[in-house]
Amino acid sequence: MTEHQRLLIIDFGSQVTQLIARRLRELNVFCEIRPYQTLTDAALHELRPQAVILSGGPDSVTRPGSARAPQAVFDLGVPVLGICYGQQVMMAQLGGEVEAGHHAEYGRAFIGPTPGHQLDGIFAGLFAPEPNSAGEPGVAGREEVWMSHGDRVTRLAPGFEVIGTSPNAPMAMIADEARRFYAVQFHPEVHHTPNGRRLLENFVRLAGFTGDWTMAGYRDEAVRRIREQVGSARVLCALSGGVDSSVAAALIHEAVGDQLTCVFVDHGLMRQGEAEEVVGMFRDHMNLHLIHATESDRFLSALEGVSDPENKRKIIGRLFIEVFEEQAHEIGGAEFLAQGTLYPDVIESVSFSGGASVTIKSHHNVGGLPEKMGMTLVEPLRELFKDEVRALGRELGLPASFIGRHPFPGPGLAIRCPGEITREKLDILRKADAVFIDQIRRHGLYDEIWQAFVAILPVRTVGVMGDSRTYDYACALRAVTSVDGMTADFYPFTHAFLGETATRIINEVRGINRVTYDITSKPPGTIEWE
Ligand code: XMP
Repeated sequence: MTEHQRLLIIDFGSQVTQLIARRLRELNVFCEIRPYQTLTDAALHELRPQAVILSGGPDSVTRPGSARAPQAVFDLGVPVLGICYGQQVMMAQLGGEVEAGHHAEYGRAFIGPTPGHQLDGIFAGLFAPEPNSAGEPGVAGREEVWMSHGDRVTRLAPGFEVIGTSPNAPMAMIADEARRFYAVQFHPEVHHTPNGRRLLENFVRLAGFTGDWTMAGYRDEAVRRIREQVGSARVLCALSGGVDSSVAAALIHEAVGDQLTCVFVDHGLMRQGEAEEVVGMFRDHMNLHLIHATESDRFLSALEGVSDPENKRKIIGRLFIEVFEEQAHEIGGAEFLAQGTLYPDVIESVSFSGGASVTIKSHHNVGGLPEKMGMTLVEPLRELFKDEVRALGRELGLPASFIGRHPFPGPGLAIRCPGEITREKLDILRKADAVFIDQIRRHGLYDEIWQAFVAILPVRTVGVMGDSRTYDYACALRAVTSVDGMTADFYPFTHAFLGETATRIINEVRGINRVTYDITSKPPGTIEWE
């Protein structure tokens, strides 16, 4: 476990709990999210938090059997901040009262200060004329916030007083300064509460956080922990060329050097120049022991005649494990398997519908490998968010071009080639994709886009080039914006850009005579075509 000063976020299932963690990490504060029902007193003492935040959530404290924080939280002697449901939980547990349902506030609201209170400590700097979320000048004496509640606090717990009031939440901001307990009905963690960051910053300051969560510090500590875990044993890492596995490999290499072997499985479904780029960087620039398994024949012949997307994925997954096992055997086996699992993948999300059955997201970049091969996992990125992984990659000296790369799926071009996969189609696809990405780079759009690629369609269409008839493949361009790949929107290229790109693809890539642009968002579409 990390040795940083630690803030504990108790999760009651809000949609935005992760944003609390993001905001705190931006303040160089290390925090952990734990679902309320997994927290025993023993776990609390082991975590030794320096402050606690109670998140929002969909439950109602007025419902019998509703979610509560462990009572011991209030005896730790550390500052506690309750947000939305977290505020109501504090009142319910500390002797106040909450009323169900009749006073909903959703979206933007304004809070006025209760006269006579010194606005310092956690409230320092609030109610000043700051710009609002739309960038317009604010009004002194009121604070714009984002609300999302049905219930509200109607009687304060002993020791608390009201600091601020909104039209439908007379106790929107409350505090017990003596115990350093604070609670707000609104959500300071969201973008639409313009001064939310200030409130959180004030809170961590008064809790004594020094901002000791930095990437350089994290790097040193992670290296030490990997050495402790691995000892003198061997570690295998499946390198996909993606950012996560690359950063994990670079970090583990720094920790245990030659005890690490990376395997890059080239299944023949990589983009143009990709295998060379990945292998070149790791083998030549990082001097890392890398096995480049060129297995395109094995993968492409197994995929021959297969057009069902799920079958394609299964075949690729099975062969991947096969190749990896063979390579592990070649080097005499390894006790540890490295994975680039990230924090959002390991957070246990709270399930209210399922009662005691908590949903735990499990994540396997190399599906099923660890169980099948009886290996112990090394997951040095488990505490990081994606942008922190990128920051760590920069800290480790990985080239910027590598760190900023768009995600690329494990099954590669197979899922961008609907219908049967042939070498001819893959060649055409690789060329068209390279032109599209080149266009995006030339126009300076690469970093604005989450992911962009070409899919080759399983239809031929008629065209005319020169004075001749053509009968070639159609392709679709796909480019989306997204923050996490879970939802996405198509990128609004200009018509000029699309026209220029279509012309270039048809002129430069033999085999394509028609270009379309996919304008489906996710949902209802997915990012990949299969
Ligand atoms: P979809 O197509 O589900 O994709 O909207 C969401 C994100 O996940 C990537 N993706 C995969 N990544 N193995 C991976 O490593 C896979 O099987 C896979 N399928 C989709 C996709 O590229 C996008 O970033």
